[in-house]
Amino acid sequence: VPNFSDRRDALNSLTGGLRPEEVEYLYGRAQQVAAGVIVEIGSFRGKSAATMALGVMDGPRPETRIFCVEPHEHFRGVFGGIFGPQDRGPFYETMVRFGCSHLVSLVGIKSEVAAAGWREPIGLLFIDGDHTYPGVKKDAELWLPKLLVGGLVVFDDATHARCGVPQVVKEVEETGAYESVQATGTMAAFRRIR
Ligand SMILES: C[S@@+](CC[C@H](N)C(=O)[O-])C[C@H]1O[C@@H](n2cnc3c(N)ncnc32)[C@H](O)[C@@H]1O
Repeated sequence: VPNFSDRRDALNSLTGGLRPEEVEYLYGRAQQVAAGVIVEIGSFRGKSAATMALGVMDGPRPETRIFCVEPHEHFRGVFGGIFGPQDRGPFYETMVRFGCSHLVSLVGIKSEVAAAGWREPIGLLFIDGDHTYPGVKKDAELWLPKLLVGGLVVFDDATHARCGVPQVVKEVEETGAYESVQATGTMAAFRRIR
């Protein structure tokens, strides 16, 4: 049975955007999901997805599913990162290596395409896809309505002024429908309150 304390170093050595304290944080949030599924926008090679899966497996609802919305199409990120079809194999390898392919499903299409048909209520939403302002704004507009009241949304790179995330986070806060909760590293997190 996979166990987080044994797998922490292996997780942290994976190629991906999360710092060690962010891995801890995401693991803990996934462990605490009380209802609904987990959805991640932007999965790359599966570091955050495996992190959340280990949290689920170590928590009270080990059947909670994790849907990774990631097209693995040619994409250049705002910080210069190059992403594409070459990342899909490593994504699957990560799921097998960390023993979580029974929980994690790759939804291999763009966020905006997947959102159109999405019906499953979400308990934890991790937004880490296109970091441009229009990209993050669209992800927030399309996916936040699917978050359960009481559910948590986590934005990565929310402290990076050179991308669109801080502005979208500010706008989410201004709706009054979310309460800011403690996060770590570059992340910002909110609980839906109505
Ligand atoms: C910073 S990486 C994600 C890192 C990942 N969460 C990790 O833990 O390593 C951003 C990802 O967003 C994906 N992406 C870009 N546009 C997208 C879109 N419209 N819908 C979903 N994913 C998208 C890219 O393919 C890329 O893999």
